Amino acid sequence: MQEQTVSTPSVPSQTRIDVPFLDLKGQYVQIKDEVNAAIQKVLDSCAFVLGPSVKEFEENYAKFCGVKHCVAVDTGTSALHLALLAAGVGPGDEVITAANTFIATCEAISYCGATPVLVDADASSYTLDPSLLEAAITQKTKAIVPVHLYGRPADMDAINAVARAHKLAVIEDACQAHGATYKGKRTGSLGLAGCFSFYPGKNLGAYGEGGAIVTNDDAVAEDMRRRRDHGSMQKYHHDVIGYNYRLEGIQGAVLNVKLKHLPKWNELRQAHANRYRELLADANLVLPPNDDDAQSVYHLYVVQVDDRSRFQEDMREEGVGTLIHYPIPVHKQKAYADLTWPSFPVTERLAGRIVSLPMFPELTDAQIKHVANVARHSVDL
Ligand SMILES: Cc1ncc(COP(=O)(O)O)c(C=O)c1O
Repeated sequence: MQEQTVSTPSVPSQTRIDVPFLDLKGQYVQIKDEVNAAIQKVLDSCAFVLGPSVKEFEENYAKFCGVKHCVAVDTGTSALHLALLAAGVGPGDEVITAANTFIATCEAISYCGATPVLVDADASSYTLDPSLLEAAITQKTKAIVPVHLYGRPADMDAINAVARAHKLAVIEDACQAHGATYKGKRTGSLGLAGCFSFYPGKNLGAYGEGGAIVTNDDAVAEDMRRRRDHGSMQKYHHDVIGYNYRLEGIQGAVLNVKLKHLPKWNELRQAHANRYRELLADANLVLPPNDDDAQSVYHLYVVQVDDRSRFQEDMREEGVGTLIHYPIPVHKQKAYADLTWPSFPVTERLAGRIVSLPMFPELTDAQIKHVANVARHSVDL
C-alpha cells in the first residue's frame, strides 16, 4: 500500500533554535542594575526581614490590585493558609475548591484542619465549573476557593453569586494570575481575599520564595498581618498562636523592582499567546480559551494534544522545552488517598492530554515560530 502523503512541512534542520521552557536569566540580565541596586540597599540597611522594602511593596501591590491592603508573606501556600484562617475556616469545616489545581490549594485547606471538597473543571475554561457548586455545598461548607489557573480568571460572577446565596467566603487562589482581569477588575480584588505566589517562575517572581494576600477587608488584613508574625502586632506581645510566614527584605526589594515591569511583561505574554493562536489556528490541537471577560496573563500556555508522549518527544528532539501542569490531579495523589473522592472526568481527561508550551516575556518571534512549527509538524502527521 502506498504511504499517504502528508501536507505538513517537515521541520527544516537549519531552522532549529533551542527554546527553553522558561528563561529566568534572560529577564534578570535586563533588570540586573535595578535589582542589584535594590538588593544592595537592603544589605546596607540590614533590614533583612519585613522592613521598609516589604512595606513599600505591600503598598504598591495593593494599588496594583485595586484593593486597600496587601499582606506580604513567605509563600503562596502561606497566603492561602492565612486567608482561610482569617475567613474563619477551622477543624470540621469543608472548603470547596477546583479539582484542577496545584496541590498547595488543598494543602492550605488541610492546614486549617478543614476538608477540601473538589469540584470538576469546566471543559473549555479549565477552571472550576460553577454549575457544579450547589451540589457540593453541605452544612459544613465555609468557603469557596476558585483558582485562576494558568493565569486565566475563573468565572467569578457565577461563583460569587452561589457564595452570596449560601453566605460563604470566597478566597481567590491567584497564585498563577498576577494582573489578570475579570470584567476589568484585577484578580485578588474579586472575593474576600486574593492569594499570590511569587515563586521565581511566576509572572511576578521573587529571587527566592514569596507570597501575598490582598483584601479590602480591614479586619481580615489585620488578622493575617498578626498571624504571619507569631501572632504579634507589637514586639513580644503575642495575641494568638501565629506562624513565621514573614517575607524577607531582599524579596520585597526585588518584587518592588519587578512590579514596575509587570504590566509590560504581561502584555508581552498576551502578544505571544496571540501569535501562538495565529500560527496554530488550524493545527490538530486544542488551544487555550480566549475571551474578553476573563483576560488571561498566560502564566502558562497550555494546549491539549491526542498523543502527548510523542508530542513531548518531538518537541524535545527539536530543542523545545515542555512541561505538564499537572499530570496527576490532587484527588489521585497519595497524599490525599485517605479521603474518598468521586471521579472528576474533565480534570482527569485534561491531565492526560495537556502540555504547556514555552511562555515567558522574553520569547522572540523566531522562537515562537519554531515552537509552532514543531508543534504543527507533530500533531498534523
Ligand atoms: C495554583 C497555585 N496555588 C498555590 C501555589 C503555592 O504557591 P507557593 O509555591 O508560593 O507556596 C501555587 C504555586 O505554584 C499554585 O500554582
